[in-house]
Amino acid sequence: MAPANSDRLRETIHLELGARSYDIHIGRGLLKEIGVELTRLRCAGKVGVVTDRNLAGHYLKPVTRVLKAAGYTVVPIVLPPGERTKTLRSIGMVMDALVNARFERSSTLLALGGGVIGDITGFAAAIYQRGIPFVQVPTSLVAQVDSSVGGKTGVDHPKGKNLIGAFNQPRAVLIDPATLRTLPEREWIAGLAEVIKYGVIEDASFFEYLEQQIAPILTLSDAPVAHIVKRSCEIKAQVVAEDEREADRRRVLNFGHTIGHALESLGGYRGLIHGEAVAVGMVYEADLARHLGYCEPGVVTRLRALLSAAGLPVTLPNVPFRALWDAMQQDKKVSAGTVYCVVPERIGSVRIVPLAKAPTRAWYESVSTRDTGSRQRVPGKKPSR
Ligand SMILES: NC(=O)c1ccc[n+]([C@@H]2O[C@H](COP(=O)([O-])OP(=O)(O)OC[C@H]3O[C@@H](n4cnc5c(N)ncnc54)[C@H](O)[C@@H]3O)[C@@H](O)[C@H]2O)c1
Ligand SMILES: [Zn+2]
Repeated sequence: MAPANSDRLRETIHLELGARSYDIHIGRGLLKEIGVELTRLRCAGKVGVVTDRNLAGHYLKPVTRVLKAAGYTVVPIVLPPGERTKTLRSIGMVMDALVNARFERSSTLLALGGGVIGDITGFAAAIYQRGIPFVQVPTSLVAQVDSSVGGKTGVDHPKGKNLIGAFNQPRAVLIDPATLRTLPEREWIAGLAEVIKYGVIEDASFFEYLEQQIAPILTLSDAPVAHIVKRSCEIKAQVVAEDEREADRRRVLNFGHTIGHALESLGGYRGLIHGEAVAVGMVYEADLARHLGYCEPGVVTRLRALLSAAGLPVTLPNVPFRALWDAMQQDKKVSAGTVYCVVPERIGSVRIVPLAKAPTRAWYESVSTRDTGSRQRVPGKKPSR
């Protein structure tokens, strides 16, 4: 099945975690080689392909075909799409399917989908018979550059997102950027927010690359898309290798997420999906950092310009300070009542600072005055695809 020259076109990133180390493979057409890859990983017997209904229409048949060709018994487990599927109930459904199909400790789960499917599958693999192997095959940009790498798995609780879960590293991550062609445009653009985040937290030259290449990226040109997926995975893998369980260093990945999560959780801003909220969060966390004297001038302007060029929203909605501050307190990064926020010092470098209420309020009031009248969503660009 595998084209003879496939390795030439493939990028491999190694995530070093001792006994839990694994490779992230990126290559167009990799979906056709999943059977070969599982054989290389010494996966045996049955493979449970967990996916959602949107993905099943596009990819379940061809993936099943290549797995069968490699000798695997395939059990498809198809869930409804969307965040509302990320529940313990879905975990129960996956457990039922595995029990009914008599899965054993040596059987494998394969997550074919976005972050929702990846998070569910990883958690199901962590608990079925106290742990079976799983492989990530991420299909959304968020999943390819973020959620499939690093081993955070789990589901939501009615009282909060991602409250139930486990650290569980996959055996491998197999990324076929060609799958992004069927991703809805809004999801694709939202994923770019996380890509831009990597430039700010870690790599100024990657940020410059994004500034220069945003037009071909938006039209899904192969080379720049492969590059942004690869560079994002490299940065995420490096941060995770240094701090698998988010004791310290891994927290830099939360840049944009303190305000972003707060906006997501505030009812009035229900219209925004995660990456869009993170885009607004990054602009305003950088602006707050500038106000507090942590951040070089010019960072906010460049960040806002790049996010806008990508078609992401960059303007804070009308939210009273108290509501925003309260929502920021709900964040997982709060420790003993203090909000810790990742702020940029310049493009390519961030630090984590505690935020006190009074100066944050003073900043927020100045922003409210300054941005009044411009608080509307920047309309998404329409790249031709
Ligand atoms: N584990 C982590 O470290 C981590 C990191 C970031 C995000 N997450 C989680 O990831 C989730 C968000 O991930 P997401 O944005 O991928 O959401 P998602 O899985 O809901 O996918 C978004 C939508 O795109 C569809 N889709 C995905 N790939 C497609 C494709 N190739 N073609 C057509 N349709 C496609 C899905 O069916 C869904 O409707 C959240 O639950 C978030 O908490 C986890
Ligand atoms: Zn995020």
